[in-house]
Amino acid sequence: MSKLTLDRILQSQGFGARKWCRNLIEDGEVSIAGETVDDYRSEFETSDLAFEVYGDEWLYREHVYIALNKPADYECSRKPSHHPGVLSLLPEQFSLRDVQPVGRLDNDTTGLLLMSDDGAFIHAQSSPKSHIPKVYVATTHGAVTSELVAKLLDGVKLNDEPAPLAALVCNKLAEHQLEIVLEQGKYHQVKRMLAAADNHCIVLKRTQIGKLTLDALELDEGEWCHLSAEQMALLVSDE
Ligand code: URA
Repeated sequence: MSKLTLDRILQSQGFGARKWCRNLIEDGEVSIAGETVDDYRSEFETSDLAFEVYGDEWLYREHVYIALNKPADYECSRKPSHHPGVLSLLPEQFSLRDVQPVGRLDNDTTGLLLMSDDGAFIHAQSSPKSHIPKVYVATTHGAVTSELVAKLLDGVKLNDEPAPLAALVCNKLAEHQLEIVLEQGKYHQVKRMLAAADNHCIVLKRTQIGKLTLDALELDEGEWCHLSAEQMALLVSDE
């Protein structure tokens, strides 16, 4: 259990610099349990603390763990250059508390993207040692043949990679669509593997990370949610 003054609480939740938070409080814009609190020195237990700022409800979170259904034409980079960044799809408080994408999806790739401000979680999810499987559905230019599936399962050689990379699982879904499961997360990996296997990826969507499926989250493109403890527990390796 930890008690913090209200200005520190708001600052930790991404409402701006301490001075700004103090002004918000003194202006009567912050309430707790229906009562305006205008003394920034008031202390509150942070766990499960619900508060309102400008009438919007917030729950204190030490860290945030978010799933976003990423639309096409959004960039995962911190300094987007050609398209809006994925952070623009979240409340601005999350940028201020340094929420960032866990790994990257290409600008034109859609689907499940995790975001957090917990460095240890980001590291554990992105580390090659974690072996967390990621499932993609790719629409291909050429037909999905049994030879293509076999090549992807056997492993294909990519430039700059010392050893061939293989899919953990690969299933034909339709004449021009396959599901591919990878655990490495190299740059443009699905697209480069398909190109190395003499095909071409024209549409790519990530549908699952660990055992967490995008379908179960029921998010439309551009929508996001906080992950529950049960959903977080699904973000693990199958090993
Ligand atoms: N592989 C790709 O080629 N692109 C992505 O965005 C993700 C995996």
